[in-house]
Amino acid sequence: MSRLIVVSNRVPAPEPGTPPAGGLAVALSGAMKERGGIWFGWSGRTLPAGQDEPEAPELVESDGVTYGLLDLGERDLDDYYAGFSNRMLWPLFHYRMDLTEFTRVNLGGYYRVNRLFAKQLLPLIQPDDIIWVHDYHLIPLAAELRAAGLQNRIGFFLHIPFPPHDIFTVLPNHADIVRRLAAYDVVGFQTPPDVENFETYVRREGVGRRLPDGRFLVYGRAITVDDFPVGIETQVFATTAASANRHALVRRMRESLEGRKLLIGVDRLDYSKGIAQRIQAYETFLTLDEMWRGRCTYLQVTPKSRGEVPEYVAMEREVAELAGRVNGAHAELDWTPIRYVNRTVSRNTLAGLYRMAHVGLVTPLRDGMNLVAKEYVAAQDPEDPGVLLLSRFAGAACELEGALLTNPYDVDGTAGAIVRALEMPLDERQDRWRRMFERIRDRDVAWWRNNFLEALERPAPEATRPGKI
Ligand code: ADP
Ligand code: G6P
Repeated sequence: MSRLIVVSNRVPAPEPGTPPAGGLAVALSGAMKERGGIWFGWSGRTLPAGQDEPEAPELVESDGVTYGLLDLGERDLDDYYAGFSNRMLWPLFHYRMDLTEFTRVNLGGYYRVNRLFAKQLLPLIQPDDIIWVHDYHLIPLAAELRAAGLQNRIGFFLHIPFPPHDIFTVLPNHADIVRRLAAYDVVGFQTPPDVENFETYVRREGVGRRLPDGRFLVYGRAITVDDFPVGIETQVFATTAASANRHALVRRMRESLEGRKLLIGVDRLDYSKGIAQRIQAYETFLTLDEMWRGRCTYLQVTPKSRGEVPEYVAMEREVAELAGRVNGAHAELDWTPIRYVNRTVSRNTLAGLYRMAHVGLVTPLRDGMNLVAKEYVAAQDPEDPGVLLLSRFAGAACELEGALLTNPYDVDGTAGAIVRALEMPLDERQDRWRRMFERIRDRDVAWWRNNFLEALERPAPEATRPGKI
């Protein structure tokens, strides 16, 4: 078996424990567990002022994984991470053209840091290694590695949506980005609609087409492009949830509910998650049906995220104010409708909270996959499962047929769906849950990893072996 080198911008701290909130870190922590290898990326630290480049990555061994951790300079982080990655690619790929900011300075920083990643990574790579690069921060990495003469198999997985042609072409350097994407041997997306968007793009721009063997010819290179829906550690999480009542915090939470039904939302504080619309839907629900007043509690656990990006700071204020206003308007002396918490919790606690919740509210305006949806399903008690209320705009909606689907822009519709979820009979809940659980059990995070790596390790047919780009 070849050695695996995983590369991502975000790398969780090497000590075993709670990975940071974010699907990539959680998924890759699970995927690296049995397979081992090198995990290379940003350390989360900033270089001292005046130093532009780290001398070499710090290498740390933990649990069979070698972490290669790079400190980055302040200017690089501003331009590459906060700037191009999180003020241009992130909003654009989540269909939020209104929130994008494109500058040449940020774009320059994006390419510069990808070159830096390549330079620092190259000395660690051996000829038989396979390299798996993750997410929008690092699209140009393979092209940089190829420019240095690297022949290894290199794969790329995009954790976020790939937008439709009309949106993607808002990116002034869209052609350069796709040309660099073509330096990979395998490009993986979350869902079939993402692959369709990519196919439409290459066709309309006249830069590629699908080959008879199913692969794509893009800028003259034959590459595999397919969907590889990311999974979770389903069995581990289900087992954790089943015994979560042992934890004092989980027990205290249950007692504090005093028999009320719990609705739960768990998301990074991100505008793509539709948290404001969700709170509005919950408020509408409270006014729809007097019967539910005082009989349910909505817990929203939302760690702050990307505080260096202005749109996130604005959103933090907006959501806090909204939650405060709804509580002010509807609370009773002995009942608070919304509990809004800005922190991360341990995986054990999280599993216990999901299991206790009668409704999982997963209503992003747009999401690549959404692991919270899968975690909520995995954590349920098969005898008395809760209901997943899921946005039709989450990648997970392509897989989780048993969910109650909703359009998060339709606040009244979502409010009605909350009532339906709370009142759903046991046999319907069990039937929906079983269908979803079977899917996430069969397609867990190990399935995702193996499926992608098999595609990456499969030799290309001789006739179409990619040449130099
Ligand atoms: P994204 O990757 O956009 O943040 P996902 O739903 O795919 O969205 O993944 C989020 C991951 O972060 C999940 O594994 C979830 O459990 C975790 N997470 C989110 N919020 C918290 C929190 N408050 N405490 C602990 N883990 C969290
Ligand atoms: C999403 C992205 C990841 C990112 C995570 C947390 O899951 O797809 O690439 O790591 O959000 O965001 P952050 O900016 O803190 O890494």
